[in-house]
Amino acid sequence: MPDPAISVDHLHKTFTSRSGFWRRKAKTTTAIKDISFTVERGELFGLLGPNGAGKTTTVKILATILLPTSGGATILGHDVVRETQAVRERIGFTFGGARGLYTRLSAVDNLLYFAELYGLAPAVTRRRIDELLALVGLDDRRDDRVETYSSGMQQRLHLARALLHDPELIYLDEPTVGIDPVGARELRKTVRELARRGKTILLTTHYMAEAEELCDRIAIIKEGDIVALDSPASLKKRIPGDSLVEIEVRAADLALLQAALKDLRAKCQTLAGDDGNKKLSVRTRQPEAVMQAMAPFIASQQVRNLEVRNQTLEDVYISIIQGKKP
Ligand SMILES: Nc1ncnc2c1ncn2[C@@H]1O[C@H](COP(=O)(O)OP(=O)(O)O)[C@@H](O)[C@H]1O
Ligand SMILES: [Mg+2]
Repeated sequence: MPDPAISVDHLHKTFTSRSGFWRRKAKTTTAIKDISFTVERGELFGLLGPNGAGKTTTVKILATILLPTSGGATILGHDVVRETQAVRERIGFTFGGARGLYTRLSAVDNLLYFAELYGLAPAVTRRRIDELLALVGLDDRRDDRVETYSSGMQQRLHLARALLHDPELIYLDEPTVGIDPVGARELRKTVRELARRGKTILLTTHYMAEAEELCDRIAIIKEGDIVALDSPASLKKRIPGDSLVEIEVRAADLALLQAALKDLRAKCQTLAGDDGNKKLSVRTRQPEAVMQAMAPFIASQQVRNLEVRNQTLEDVYISIIQGKKP
């Protein structure tokens, strides 16, 4: 059996900051409690969680930028603490934000600079840069100054830079944050293309739709622990009921409506709507029966809005993050 791409074993990380007179007051933050997971070669693996969950800390340890407090991890069999050089040669990463590029230089000049810094053989540099600019879709803007790029284009250039030494693994930390929807879609297309070419990708995001669209498997991380780990399809099956019906009514009609739904034994949840309306969220395996029960209310125009949809990963994510049993 070849080594997995990433193997994380009981990883734990605390940060201690000191303050006060003689800096005697120590404050300890636990960023990662106890995390274990394995990513297979060629897999597109997502770390999904809210801000502060510990995603970036995890990725930084796997990139040898931070040391774990206890526990460990290996990358293609190489230890992230003892074999940092071997790990670094095999990974490329981008962390969100626009820093790290020379904005007054062109894309080509940025990549030439970093290629030299990384000690790339000049014979392969030009060809590699041409390939990468085509891959990330910056071919036609290659000679323009980076300061004229949109944030999406800058992010794609970051990605090209991370790929210069042709790493087997790529870490993308919140790659689409701050990018407009069109730019984000372009970037996701590039990520999918990289996966298609056989790269192993570790992606962090707090957008569940993004994780659902891209990832083979997702670890949902909350307050430094993994609370669920599965394929998007399997995660979705964790909440019973296949459909959600959302019904918006006048607050005054809510009780009547709930009475009409009582016999269906559907799970109802009342949410506040706009302008004094109430929203009833009905989780059910029988959306047709719910619709039928609603028919008289629709006819008498007591129902303001009605929407039927299948579970999305967002429903599961919110239910897991809010601590309800999935
Ligand atoms: N250098 C640091 N010093 C102190 N606390 C930190 C440091 N980096 C991160 N943390 C804390 O660790 C926790 C996890 O942060 P992080 O890994 O950045 O989360 P995420 O990337 O999921 O938003 C947060 O509570 C954060 O405030
Ligand atoms: Mg982060």
